[in-house]
Amino acid sequence: MKEILKIFLPNSLIKLYHSAKKRLRFVPEDELVNFDSKTISAGHYNVTYRGIPAIRCPFDYVIYQMIISKIKPDLVIEIGTNYGGGALYLADLMNTLGHGAIHTIDIEKKTGEIVAKHPRIKLFTNGWENYNINEAKEFSKILIIEDASHMYEDTLSALRKFSPLVSIDSYFIVEDGIINELDKEKGFHGGPLRAIREFLAENKNFKVDRAYCDMFGKNATFNVNGYLKRIK
Ligand SMILES: C[S@@+](CC[C@H](N)C(=O)[O-])C[C@H]1O[C@@H](n2cnc3c(N)ncnc32)[C@H](O)[C@@H]1O
Repeated sequence: MKEILKIFLPNSLIKLYHSAKKRLRFVPEDELVNFDSKTISAGHYNVTYRGIPAIRCPFDYVIYQMIISKIKPDLVIEIGTNYGGGALYLADLMNTLGHGAIHTIDIEKKTGEIVAKHPRIKLFTNGWENYNINEAKEFSKILIIEDASHMYEDTLSALRKFSPLVSIDSYFIVEDGIINELDKEKGFHGGPLRAIREFLAENKNFKVDRAYCDMFGKNATFNVNGYLKRIK
């Protein structure tokens, strides 16, 4: 029955139904559980790691550390550094695992000393368009994280440029397909999801890893359909 309802009713009606059902049950005000992609989005801007802004959805932090621990990449290329909290989190994790390096790319340098001097992090501040892929040639197991402008055109171009570097069984993670759910995709010309759709239609070496995307519920991630596993 639930599955049939899902097919015929839009998401908003299903949400309304669940909230009405909750209201019929008495729950003291301070015990109410009430969050969704919009509240998580508001909160994720406040996330820090070791005091440094590290803008990422909490579900994705858990998934990231699982992937890094499993793949143990020689190199992670992060496109979009910002203050570098996300890169620092991954670099510390790599320290614990005793393996791996990060190339993190931005168009400006906002990182402080802790990030800039981390032995596993190398900063590039000239934009991903100017990153020379020969920088990655000494590494074999490579994982890419795309977290820059989120414009459809940029995301698709970055997918095309960096996907050949991803080793088989590793991942190209495309951040923030959630913008569609947040009704912001127009400003991003369709954003990462449109780019992923087109990329997967033209490149059969990758597939969406549903185990990660759906681990906490259907696409309960900010990287909607964004965990792309290289399968061949
Ligand atoms: C969402 S933030 C990145 C957040 C970061 N990954 C973290 O974990 O905190 C997006 C960043 O992408 C950068 N950016 C925009 N265009 C870029 C480009 N062409 N190349 C590299 N970075 C770019 C922006 O300057 C901004 O700092």
